[in-house]
Amino acid sequence: MSFSAKLLKWYDLHKRDLPWRHTVDPYKVWLSEIILQQTRVDQGMSYYLKFVSLFPTVNDLAAADEDQVLKAWQGLGYYSRARNLHATARQIATEMGGQFPEKQADLLQLKGVGQYTSAAIASFCFNEVTPVVDGNVSRVLSRLHGLTEPIDSQAGKRTLYECAWQCIDREQPGLYNQAIMEFGALQCVPVNPDCQGCPFKSQCVAYASDTVKDLPVKGKKTAVKKRWFYYFYITDNNGVYIKKRTQSGIWKGLHDFPLLEKENSQPIEEAVAEGFQLLRLPKSAVVKGVSEEYVHVLSHRKIHARFIAITLPSLWSKAPKDVLRIDKKDLASFGIPRLIDKFLESDILAQ
Ligand code: ADE
Repeated sequence: MSFSAKLLKWYDLHKRDLPWRHTVDPYKVWLSEIILQQTRVDQGMSYYLKFVSLFPTVNDLAAADEDQVLKAWQGLGYYSRARNLHATARQIATEMGGQFPEKQADLLQLKGVGQYTSAAIASFCFNEVTPVVDGNVSRVLSRLHGLTEPIDSQAGKRTLYECAWQCIDREQPGLYNQAIMEFGALQCVPVNPDCQGCPFKSQCVAYASDTVKDLPVKGKKTAVKKRWFYYFYITDNNGVYIKKRTQSGIWKGLHDFPLLEKENSQPIEEAVAEGFQLLRLPKSAVVKGVSEEYVHVLSHRKIHARFIAITLPSLWSKAPKDVLRIDKKDLASFGIPRLIDKFLESDILAQ
């Protein structure tokens, strides 16, 4: 039996029943792939269903406000995905009459759509013969064929694509691509895979050479930068003061609180004093308390955050221009980073 035939048989027996596998609507497949890019299936599922329900077509998504899209995305992280999603929906709605491109080469022109996503949409929806190579597929192919070049190097990627092109099923490329991804997700898992129960045991180079745990090879590790955030959680009677993040970066477009950002840890009294100066807080402002440290880990950042709770006896009329006063009860309707959410949910100072 060919590799593909064996794989498709395995898929038929073991595949999960996932909502985006019941559609060939490129809009829905695109949504699911963007959501699943840095998110596990069990976490991404509810977001996929929410987006399909809030925005059933690409035109509905295009017509939404960016704030509405970011709000729906809240909690998924990597917000540039949501901004690109929205910008691309607008591009498709205005320049393409709401019609998705059908060829991988045309899909690649869309913002936020790279090699992987374009191959997924073109093969799943239009049966184009083009292999998907994501983390799961890289692991499966590296082990089966004993590929030892780092999968994040140029040479390693080239070898992987050559191998992927040789393996893909020319008759059923969409089904094959789904199957090999699922095989990586469920059977050929990163740690302690069940090689005894694997249909490819007799032909797997890594299994034969006892190198399953060593493959795939990864080269560079992403550098994780540490940052110290001192947030000023400023409230008056019913109001709280927030700020929209306009600088580029992962949280662009979200709202948080006035912030002092440092590359090193500061004595808390100094951070408070600097914040008072920077924000020109009135003399009547009172420091109610300072939170414990919240450590928030992102792919390339480790944030140590503390929240300095400040109360004002009356409206802050001289607040900086980019600081917005809203009713405390309306905070939930703004898109905010998960870190802020954690503070608001759990900290006594936020009550
Ligand atoms: N992860 C990324 N894309 C996926 C898909 N289509 N099905 C399951 N998991 C995925």
